[in-house]
Amino acid sequence: MGAIGVIGAGKIGGSLLTRLADSKKFSLTVADIHIDHLARYEKYGGIKTTTSNRELAEASDLVIIAVKPWDVTKVLDEISPTLENSNKAVASVAAGIPISTMEKHAPPGAAVLRVMPNVCASVGLGSAVVTANEAGQKTLPLLMEIFGHVGQVMELPERLFDAATALHGSGPAYVALFADSLIQAGVREGIPRDVARKLVIGTIEGTAELLKDRSAHQVRDEVMTPGGTTAAAFVAMERARFTGAVYDGVSAATEQARELGS
Ligand SMILES: NC(=O)c1ccc[n+]([C@@H]2O[C@H](COP(=O)([O-])OP(=O)(O)OC[C@H]3O[C@@H](n4cnc5c(N)ncnc54)[C@H](OP(=O)(O)O)[C@@H]3O)[C@@H](O)[C@H]2O)c1
Repeated sequence: MGAIGVIGAGKIGGSLLTRLADSKKFSLTVADIHIDHLARYEKYGGIKTTTSNRELAEASDLVIIAVKPWDVTKVLDEISPTLENSNKAVASVAAGIPISTMEKHAPPGAAVLRVMPNVCASVGLGSAVVTANEAGQKTLPLLMEIFGHVGQVMELPERLFDAATALHGSGPAYVALFADSLIQAGVREGIPRDVARKLVIGTIEGTAELLKDRSAHQVRDEVMTPGGTTAAAFVAMERARFTGAVYDGVSAATEQARELGS
């Protein structure tokens, strides 16, 4: 099962492909409807390119569909004949589209898997959760190995995929929003923009490192001197409903993922 095909040479498919190619462990094919999206992979050693999803599926043991959610069933209808009576498996990275919908667009008994990655995969620091239907269980270790090349991977029951999509799938955008707000706040206080940017990026990087072996509350308490500046900031931020806004955002994204699948 070393032949992997990725349909959709976009942000997620693309970041996966280059890292997998670097590992030299897989035979790789990528398909996209845009020839120009394939150009950068033609130069990349060991990646075959095609504009035919069907041709890609014929050449692959595992097909990873990395197109927008509303294009997934169309792609499945196209490649379904190649999955018939085969040992091939198909996985999707799309938000919201459940395995049950994918099964309706694949031959009976097909091995169907789901992954929810995030864009940090492009720098090898991605987070992904995976799950599979009964027939796809035997392909789960391979899927985990593949996404292990671009970050950490965990199994998660499918009923939690919409929440995971909202949490870590969209997560980099929330952190970027927070980073931007913090940079702006520094600029507002008179710190030069380039200095504020470096300070904020360093702070996020360092905090992520601290959080690896202590709780968020521990980190907070280490910084927060009673009666000090951080305590004053926390009161002001909570009055502006900071935590409530985060809960509301993740809840809205979860609901949106559910709607994509209905
Ligand atoms: N981006 C993220 O941070 C993120 C995180 C987690 C999960 N995801 C999931 O990953 C999937 C891909 O997202 P993305 O951001 O990587 O999308 P993207 O950058 O738009 O990449 C998708 C690529 O597939 C092409 N495509 C569309 N229809 C196709 C078809 N029928 N056959 C072959 N190629 C086709 C697209 O062309 P067009 O541009 O013409 O559509 C585009 O080049 C989505 O389902 C999303 O839910 C994304």
